[in-house]
Amino acid sequence: MVVLRIEKLRRRDLRQLMRIENIVFPEPWSAAVFTSELALRKGRLYRAAWLGDQMAGYIGFMVVDDEAHMTTIATTPDFQRSGIATTMIIDAMRTLLEWGVRHVSLEVAANNQPAQNLYRRFGFAPVSVRKNYYPVTGQDALVMWAYDIDSGEYAKRLDELSARAAAFEIARRR
Ligand SMILES: CC(C)(COP(=O)(O)OP(=O)(O)OC[C@H]1O[C@@H](n2cnc3c(N)ncnc32)[C@H](O)[C@@H]1OP(=O)(O)O)[C@@H](O)C(=O)NCCC(=O)NCCS
Repeated sequence: MVVLRIEKLRRRDLRQLMRIENIVFPEPWSAAVFTSELALRKGRLYRAAWLGDQMAGYIGFMVVDDEAHMTTIATTPDFQRSGIATTMIIDAMRTLLEWGVRHVSLEVAANNQPAQNLYRRFGFAPVSVRKNYYPVTGQDALVMWAYDIDSGEYAKRLDELSARAAAFEIARRR
């Protein structure tokens, strides 16, 4: 059984994270940006997914009152399409719910179909477009929202997605 662990992202993880970041994003964040995000003690949720001592992916959110904004998500190319992002989002949504979050937003490049497919599964729907949002690629960004994640209907959605991602046994540690 492959055990996927989801843990709080730490500064010492940034070397592995930056390797993934530089491969998967056309406009990667710098290590300094991650360092400053991790230095904020409040209003941020950053987690990494691990297979043994190899980082498989990471996810981040900014949280203000009952709203959260996904700042980043990535899965290392070797492990894409095996449910890692799904598992990270389920884990994060459950934590955000514990924190009192009700609505979640994100931006995604208009041509990033894989990510949009993933987000739609979690009930995110496009609400607006930011023209030429990404400076390097010139891509527009879709702004997507998932509203009322504290509803019974959304809890059912998370349970169904968890059942599908159950090929991994997830150990959560804080
Ligand atoms: C988007 C990303 C995070 C998805 O991670 P992942 O761990 O591969 O995702 P999952 O395995 O949980 O996929 C869940 C669903 O998302 C959709 N999806 C994921 N990758 C896809 C692809 N290459 N093509 C089409 N749909 C895809 C599918 O609906 C998939 O379900 P399925 O495999 O049952 O069809 C990953 O492709 C990635 O790191 N991309 C580069 C960084 C990035 O674009 N981040 C998002 C920025 S907004």
